Amino acid sequence: MSKKAFYVTTPIYYVNAEPHIGHAYTTVIADFLARWHRLAGYDSYFLTGTDEHGEKIAQAAKAAGEEPQAFVDRVSTRFKEAWKRLCIEYDDFIRTTEPRHKKIVQEILQKVYDAGDIYYGEYEGYYCVGCERFLTDKELVDGCCPDHGTPPEKRKEGNYFFRMEKYREWLIDYINSHPDFIRPEGYRNEVLSILSEPIGDLSISRPRERVPWGIPIPWDEKHVTYVWFDALINYVSAVGYPDGEKYQRYWDSVWHLIGKDIIKPHAIFWPTMLKAAGMPIYKHLNVGGFLMGPDGRKMSKTLGNVVDPFDLSEKYGADVVRYYLLSDVPYGQDASVGETHLVARYNADLANDLGNLLSRTITMIEKFCGGEIPAPKAKGSPDDELIALAESLPDKLETMVNRMQLNAAIREIWRFIGRANKYIDETMPWSLAKDSSQKERLDTVLYNLAEALRVAAVHISPIMPNTPAKIFEQLGIDDASLSSWESVKKWGGLPAGLKVSRKEIIFPRIDEKAKEKAKAEQETKAKAKEEKQAEAKEEAANIISIEDFAKVELRIAEVLEAEKVKGADKLLKLQVKIGDERRQIVAGIAKYYSPEELVGKKIVVVANLKPAKLRGELSQGMLLAASNEEGLSLITVDRDIESGARVK
Ligand code: MSP
Repeated sequence: MSKKAFYVTTPIYYVNAEPHIGHAYTTVIADFLARWHRLAGYDSYFLTGTDEHGEKIAQAAKAAGEEPQAFVDRVSTRFKEAWKRLCIEYDDFIRTTEPRHKKIVQEILQKVYDAGDIYYGEYEGYYCVGCERFLTDKELVDGCCPDHGTPPEKRKEGNYFFRMEKYREWLIDYINSHPDFIRPEGYRNEVLSILSEPIGDLSISRPRERVPWGIPIPWDEKHVTYVWFDALINYVSAVGYPDGEKYQRYWDSVWHLIGKDIIKPHAIFWPTMLKAAGMPIYKHLNVGGFLMGPDGRKMSKTLGNVVDPFDLSEKYGADVVRYYLLSDVPYGQDASVGETHLVARYNADLANDLGNLLSRTITMIEKFCGGEIPAPKAKGSPDDELIALAESLPDKLETMVNRMQLNAAIREIWRFIGRANKYIDETMPWSLAKDSSQKERLDTVLYNLAEALRVAAVHISPIMPNTPAKIFEQLGIDDASLSSWESVKKWGGLPAGLKVSRKEIIFPRIDEKAKEKAKAEQETKAKAKEEKQAEAKEEAANIISIEDFAKVELRIAEVLEAEKVKGADKLLKLQVKIGDERRQIVAGIAKYYSPEELVGKKIVVVANLKPAKLRGELSQGMLLAASNEEGLSLITVDRDIESGARVK
């Protein structure tokens, strides 16, 4: 019987940043899924890669003073190196600047164009370069991109459009009739809610003279393909759409893995593109949450809460980092991660549960059986429970992995390891050893423990690819068939008579106090260094000339009226008087001041700022306020002075 296919993908990573924990998290999960399916008898295929076109990349190359191609070649290699360090074994690494990819993007574009689903039009909207897409008014928070916190740029240009709206109803039906198409469920609902209103058509090109770094539109060389339309196609170009053997073999089974910030392109752009191109839709979109710093806040260099998986793997080994990420974070949810958490998990699950089971078992086989795994002879009461648990694992794991309940699946394996440790306490081999009439029972108990370790080693192999060999070595196993999936479905595959040998403890306990002290010292040093650097940077950045300062026109303004801006929780709209002039200023202070308390106040405003529109309201200036994490205080004057007075 031919094997069932399984195809898993990660997002292709933008090469404007170095590999970080967000990339590592998704890639470790994909690697786990690929390995698990291979173990369970699937023909498994794992794709990752890098996203190398678009404005963001062109800007990053420029900032690095490199040609775009040289820049993307260099950073893309950094990703390959990073994946080696975490023992990621992908089958293919696609780069969007490769000819094999560009060719397919152009073919698909042409196909959709020929079918009449692409047209030319003028577009005006707010573009966020960080997201590489136009944001809708609804998405903006106080005029800024919710993910990047920066105001998007207003842009008007001629673009080609993909008739995405045309497929909205179809997509709603598709999602409704395929309940596990997008999962976990919360994200599915989020997508349905976006689809409950018109989604419009998707701008899929950029003028080449503004963004030269992209794939030319096949029928109009003056335009290049929009980076998301280009990038999404990697999932099929890599496997050789349309005729390639791999495409035929794997495409129908594909699971995409993404982070929650890129759900819209994957759940809306991508299926409608596939539909328009007459291609089958992917099988599952699996959406992961965000990993936060140990303090629960978004990781950022300025906050100093960045957790680096590559440093951690240097320190604790790739298997430990992989185990930690997979077992500690419930898939789909945001979770805070950090070294202290990792050490706690390591000590409890790896040093205590798994490590102890191995060292206790090997010690007892050496001590009571001359170092040879005995043959089981006399069954006893707790055996059945241990065996039943082992034999039920494969099916349970299959169900859980299929539902992306990964940390729960790992907990099941650990429940079994815990059961085996309890079995030692219940059977007390050291007591059995004292009574020669119990020899047969002792042999059975020790055999069962060795078998339990073999079973555990096989089940953890997709999580921790390097650890099973260490367990097998100590158990004296060198027969590869004993690490197969079939061999753990039925208890008793381990042959008796193997020679065990004690080696180094696989997961020595980490002394947390010493670790914490070392960590605290390291952190203090790193902080001091960072502060120094930040000071130097600030100094360099903050020094401005008197001429620069004179350009800013600060004036006293009197607040005449104030009211909330409809539909924007944070904004207040003020009518102010600056000398004889009346102006409207929109400010994000609604959380700190009520409209009533502002009326009559004399505040300081920047009077020569270019007017801007916030939530559709004209703002003709900016007011000054001091703020910190607790709140915000407006700058006012401490003696009465007439409005319009210049602040110097
Ligand atoms: N290039 C696009 C994807 C194109 S796929 C056709 C992209 N690249 S990215 O490098 O910016 O992000 C890749 C993934 O990393 C996203 O899925 C994002 O959710 C994930 N993460 C980035 N930071 C993260 C965390 N802190 N935690 C978890 N994942 C997060 O988007």
